[in-house]
Amino acid sequence: MNYNSKLASIDNVNTACLAIGVYQGKRFDDALNTLNNASKGQLKRILGKNDFSGENGSSLLLYELQGIKASRVLLFGLGERKKFSIQTFAQAVGKAIAQLQGMNLQEATFSLPEHDDLYDLIRQSVITSEEAVYRFDDCKSQAEPPKKPLKRISFLAPNRRAVNTIQSASQHGLAIANGMKLAKDLANLPGNICTPTYLAKTARDLAKGKQKLSVSIVEEKEMNELGMGALLSVSRGSRQPAKLIVMHYKGSEHNNKPIAFVGKGLTFDAGGISIKPSAAMDEMKYDMCGGASVFGAIAACAELQLPINVVGVVPASENLPDGDANKPGDIVTSMSGQTIEVLNTDAEGRLILCDALTYTERFDPAAVIDIATLTGACVVALGHHATGLMANDDKLAQELLNAGDASHDRAWQLPLWDDYQKPLDSNFADMANIGDRSAGAITAGSFLSRFTKQYKWAHLDIAGTAWKSGADKGATGRPVPMLMQFLLKRSKSIK
Ligand code: BES
Ligand code: MN
Ligand code: ZN
Repeated sequence: MNYNSKLASIDNVNTACLAIGVYQGKRFDDALNTLNNASKGQLKRILGKNDFSGENGSSLLLYELQGIKASRVLLFGLGERKKFSIQTFAQAVGKAIAQLQGMNLQEATFSLPEHDDLYDLIRQSVITSEEAVYRFDDCKSQAEPPKKPLKRISFLAPNRRAVNTIQSASQHGLAIANGMKLAKDLANLPGNICTPTYLAKTARDLAKGKQKLSVSIVEEKEMNELGMGALLSVSRGSRQPAKLIVMHYKGSEHNNKPIAFVGKGLTFDAGGISIKPSAAMDEMKYDMCGGASVFGAIAACAELQLPINVVGVVPASENLPDGDANKPGDIVTSMSGQTIEVLNTDAEGRLILCDALTYTERFDPAAVIDIATLTGACVVALGHHATGLMANDDKLAQELLNAGDASHDRAWQLPLWDDYQKPLDSNFADMANIGDRSAGAITAGSFLSRFTKQYKWAHLDIAGTAWKSGADKGATGRPVPMLMQFLLKRSKSIK
């Protein structure tokens, strides 16, 4: 969908449908008053019939309102005025767009509530609208496309100065939404299609025709030469070869140090010999969501041509039980030289990540952020709202927390004190890959911290936020918004 701004008075805009948010209680603001006056009180008379409450999710479609140029007017509920937030508005816009989508319209125009952060209001509305029309039916034999999908959404600019803000917010919002869509599409694909090889091919395809993007793949043979014994040990139990996908986005003219994103790309996690229970095991196809978010962020950088250098590193592998798989007690040597006793083969994410993190040193990164569906314990700690954040640098941590707040894609910090290292002690190797039963998310972060001493580093545990279970099972595209907010700020593309 295309989003732009329109400078016109609300009663005089030429559009197939004018959409206006209305609060519960239907208090008339400037926009509604203008429409009411133009229609000589018709709007008030219609609303007086009380068919429409303004409740969140409710709506009323009006045809041929007199004195108004738009051929339809859609009133959509915003809920209680005192509970108004950018999120509630954006979600209401998303619902309205889903409704319009079913109506054979090509375009529609939204009027905007007064707000001091127009940029965020628009950007979030665009993201939520794209989410509202998202479907994943690549694997259905008969996908049902909407008859005539909406092509264009215009936002009514309250003044000339707002036009630029609306345009840049729309552009940023659409790029973030497209990045989220790529992340969701990859994640929603089943494990038999979305293999490490498939991810590698997707990365190569992504780089095609993009000057600033280049992709290289480290194959198992080279991993072996590099000494990536931890990553290879996970892949050994699978018939699909592991791939280490490396994406370079070079948006900055200067040789500025890159930001590195390292995303867990475990395309199916059965647990290995420490096999998982079968209930909901299908959801472990989502164990590559960290990697998918790196794809999404890199794609969004390229779409926006952000003036910054970014490296995306995605170690991709399956984790399956097999005669050649890791066994509990096996000891492997990581690329860093540190040895690891694999006490639980289901703690494989940290094994593939530690080698990818060591590999990332070669890019002399300004900061490294890894993104991983790493622990069930993180879901226990934070549920599905906040991503778990750990870091070896407080400024970087704060920067990401702020980025999460600003992009409605929040994280919450957990400590990485030395006290948490002790449970990783092993009698036989430099460390074990699991600790005791306590603080599982932090234990995993502590494990990774042993491989990230060379640079500023943050770890995002997205086990609770990357996908939804139940009736609306599906990937969320998180934390692409947080990562993009971080990059937009770092590249000074927004204030
Ligand atoms: N991919 C899982 C983590 C996970 C589990 C994410 C459930 C979302 C939902 C990871 O590889 C894993 O299995 N972690 C283990 C670690 C444990 C063995 C220390 C876990 O969380 O149970
Ligand atoms: Mn696992
Ligand atoms: Zn896993």
